[in-house]
Amino acid sequence: MNVPKIIEEFRPQLGLILGSGLGSFAEDRLEVTFRLSYGELPGFPVSTVPGHVGQFVGGEFDGKRIICMQGRFHLYEGYSPQAVTLPIRLMHAAGVKALIATNAAGGINPNYAAGDFMMLEDHINFMATNPLIVDSSTEGIHFPDMSTVYDAEWRERLRDWATAKELPLHEGVYLATTGPSFETPAEIRAFAALGADAVGMSTVPEAIVATTLGLRILGISCITNLAAGISDSPLTHEEVGKTADRVRGRFADLLEAAISFC
Ligand code: HPA
Repeated sequence: MNVPKIIEEFRPQLGLILGSGLGSFAEDRLEVTFRLSYGELPGFPVSTVPGHVGQFVGGEFDGKRIICMQGRFHLYEGYSPQAVTLPIRLMHAAGVKALIATNAAGGINPNYAAGDFMMLEDHINFMATNPLIVDSSTEGIHFPDMSTVYDAEWRERLRDWATAKELPLHEGVYLATTGPSFETPAEIRAFAALGADAVGMSTVPEAIVATTLGLRILGISCITNLAAGISDSPLTHEEVGKTADRVRGRFADLLEAAISFC
């Protein structure tokens, strides 16, 4: 894979995917070295969702060189699972060894409130596709083990930090659908029965590819709303953005701690 010179020279150590409404972390907390729009990368899709800028931002924090994805690609934008995970392959080719993947999610677990955070303990791929599917002419198909996708030690350190700070930090199972429609209450009841604590429309394809590439992964959901039927109010993309905005300071503190423990 061709790594752009600006990224190669930066020698990133850690990748950070900033989810819906969570992109300001790069500006707020990093000493920014470069910005590179996805549109300038040959073969790269362009993100079309409001709230997703669509660029790599490189910067330092805590002596670590971090490459952020300010905006990611989603299946619901019509991109293939392979296209959605291209940035992960690029970051890995550039030397990244660990990945923090953030997202906005709907809370299914009745103990969750809008504005809470959840570390991904595991996930359920409910997207009915997989980024490792290759066309039949390709050699080298993998069957990667998925029994420990999300790094247990990293989670433990962040859990201890959150406990010491008295900051509520859940740990649970993230279920991914393709979206873009939100779920029906019946779907949410089904997902609860399957063992899901939160639901969203991203992260799983990236986590599958990152696992295959041997990256250590930390996943963090911002619970931006209660899932359909858990609360009576209708769900909107605006609500997701509003909650993400409201918690951006706390979210940035959490990310800083996560970076320092990587
Ligand atoms: N469902 C799916 N994706 C989401 C939600 C939700 O309720 N909230 C934020 N992303």
